[in-house]
Amino acid sequence: MRPKYVVGNWKLNGSLPGNESLLRAILKEVSPQPGRHLAVCVPAPYLAQVRGLLEGTPVAWGGQDVSRFEKGAYTGDVSGAMLREFGATFAIVGHSERRTLFGDTDEAVAQKYAAARKAGLVPIFCVGETLAEREKGVTESVLARQLDAVLEVSGAAALDGGLVAYEPVWAIGTGRTATSAQAQEAHAFLRGRVAKKDAGVASRLPILYGGSVKGSNAAELFAMPDVDGGLIGGASLVAEDFLAIWRAAVA
Ligand code: PGA
Repeated sequence: MRPKYVVGNWKLNGSLPGNESLLRAILKEVSPQPGRHLAVCVPAPYLAQVRGLLEGTPVAWGGQDVSRFEKGAYTGDVSGAMLREFGATFAIVGHSERRTLFGDTDEAVAQKYAAARKAGLVPIFCVGETLAEREKGVTESVLARQLDAVLEVSGAAALDGGLVAYEPVWAIGTGRTATSAQAQEAHAFLRGRVAKKDAGVASRLPILYGGSVKGSNAAELFAMPDVDGGLIGGASLVAEDFLAIWRAAVA
């Protein structure tokens, strides 16, 4: 059985007092669960605060992006080593908002994946099609292109110890969730494509679903054989909503 993950993605949200009350409310209700992992990916300036609140608890933390470079003249970037210095376990790479709003190409995402691995982080590698792509019937070729970029740069072995997140762009922040059958189909496609390179890596690879996951739909999504948890945006900002998703993963 693969482990299950519930990972919050705070995006561009938070404040020192707000983060503290959110995390304290979450910590009151969670205990370590075998084979279950809970984490929050936070804006970089909050890493020190979050580390102070979460160190020694069952909740891990991570960054929302990582530089493809190790150091140097790259204004605004945050390196994998910097994230590690603040105790981060995870780094999201290739989120659709980075791809569409900030111009991350498949190649840049593949380099970020490699940089995250090199720094000792667990990358959460996001892939997903837009609504126009789904309607054109090219979902699988888009997922294949995004996945292959990382496979080409890092090889299938580098997916061992990483996570993939399938996040259909049309479901992110829209309230429109993929059906559990749509999620399963995409996850099985991704796992099958990795299996062509390395069946062992594919069978171990956790593939999370992201896009309007809520307490009310999490259990159904997580029951799918290839859905190994969720990457949670909006609902990760409200303790009760995030906890409801965690409970669905633990059940
Ligand atoms: P959402 O975001 O849960 O608000 O749809 C998910 C994500 O972007 O990771």
